[in-house]
Formats: sequence, structure tokens, C-alpha cells
Amino acid sequence: MNRSPASRNWRRIARLGLGVSLAMLASCRRDMQDQPRYKPLAATNFFGDGRSARPEVEGTVAWGRWTNKPPDPEFLRIDQARFTGRVNGEYVDYFPFPITRADLDRGRDRYNVYCSPCHSRVGDGNGMVVRRGFKQAASYHTQRLIDAPVGHFFDVMTNGFGQMPSYASRVEPDDRWRIAAYIRVLQLSQDAPVEAVPAAERGDLDRNPPTPPIPEPQPVGDQVPPNAPQKLQEPIK
Ligand code: HEC
Repeated sequence: MNRSPASRNWRRIARLGLGVSLAMLASCRRDMQDQPRYKPLAATNFFGDGRSARPEVEGTVAWGRWTNKPPDPEFLRIDQARFTGRVNGEYVDYFPFPITRADLDRGRDRYNVYCSPCHSRVGDGNGMVVRRGFKQAASYHTQRLIDAPVGHFFDVMTNGFGQMPSYASRVEPDDRWRIAAYIRVLQLSQDAPVEAVPAAERGDLDRNPPTPPIPEPQPVGDQVPPNAPQKLQEPIK
């Protein structure tokens, strides 16, 4: 065939046009809501172990928070003892930072907020919540808990114990140590030899009478407020 150069050009343009429109058809767009991704922890048969969430590559080193500063040991919780109360699975029997007077004050404050409702302010396990029917909380003045390593107290606050819930979400790790230190204070306070009191202050011991016992709660069943509706004043069956 003998085509003129003009018709060859037209054919070329037509072929190009077809190519472009085919390419546009093929590259149909993918919307964002339609991404090739897995929902968190979804199963997949792409990986041999069936998990779409891949384990960290061995030796991965977490970097500081979301800044490019050097790793922050506190954020990374590198110090096992300080963040778990254990080293190699064994409870530690020391405080991971020096306890000062300010730490004890903070410990008492946090203890009174979070622990005393069940364990009572002196730690005998008869707090108000227990007196209202919650399971008897532990007394800290048993020989077993006097001998228990401080790491145990940290662990109980972190993970809970029996009926007692975990306080990890409410009490910062360092505050848990401060509470544990304050529990040591309570233990000593209930079981201290007279010699532990400075000689100059021993005379005061007799001057301060012991705290009077708290009266038992009285039933309030038949006390009806004077302005209560008539119906309520009938005895409840
Ligand atoms: C809601 C009540 C409640 C609160 C609040 C509470 N505890 Fe307890 N705690 C218990 C009960 C109940 C037990 C006994 C658990 C059991 O034997 O099932 C217990 C047991 C313990 C024990 C003894 C564990 C053992 O080895 O026997 C420790 C130590 C302790 N609590 C510390 C704390 C500290 C510290 C706090 C404050 C951060 C706290 N608890 C707050 C109820 C509570």
C-alpha cells in the first residue's frame, strides 16, 4: 500500500489518542476510603503467621517521644526496677530513687486519696469502703507484709491484687514508690519501739491520748425526714 505522509500522520495521532484514553481508563482513581490496608490486628494470608500487624524487627530501638531528641530513658522505661518493681522477675527491696521528706509527704497525700478509702488512714484494711461492704482489704501490719520487699507493693499497685484493682492508670510510677515508702512509714508507726522516738520527745507520747475509736455506723432505716411524703413514712417491708 502506498499511503500518503498525511494519512500516516493521522493514523499516528489516532493511535496515540487511543493509547492515552486507554491509559486514562486503566488508571482509574482509588479513593482514600478504599485504600489497600488492613484494619488493626486483622488477619491476612499474605504472611505465613496470618498476622497483618508485624512484630517489631529484632533490635528496634525506640527513639525519644515524637521529637528527634536523644532517647528519653523515662519515656522508654528502660529502668526495669523503677517501672516494674522487679529485676529479672524478682521483687526489688530498695527504692529506685532516694526518698526524701518531700517524697514521703507526696506519698501520704496520694495514699490518702487512692488507698485509704479501703485500707484506712493507718493501713489496717478497715477503710470506709470496706466498712460499707467491700471485701476486707489487707492490713499492712501483718508480718508477711512487713517482711515483703517494696517491689511487691509497687507491683500490687501496678497490676492489682485479687479483688483490688490496678492503680496504674491513676498513680504515676514514681508516685507508686512514694506510696510504698509511706506504707513503710505506716508500718513503722503502728509497730515502733519507744526507742525509735527521739529521747527529747518521748514525754509527749503520754500527753497525746490515742485516737478514739470511730463509732460503728448506725442503721438509718427508721429515720424519715420530717418533710418526706406521707407514703414514705410507712415502714418499708
Ligand atoms: C477498692 C478498695 C481498695 C483500694 C482503693 C485499694 N486496695 Fe489494696 N487491697 C484491697 C483488697 C480488697 C485487698 C485484698 C485483695 C484480695 O485478697 O483479694 C487489697 C490488698 C492489698 C495489698 C496486699 C497484697 C498482698 O500481698 O496480700 C496491698 C499491698 C495493697 N492492697 C496496697 C494498696 C495500695 C498501695 C493502694 C492505693 C494505691 C490500694 N491498695 C488501694 C482493696 C483496695
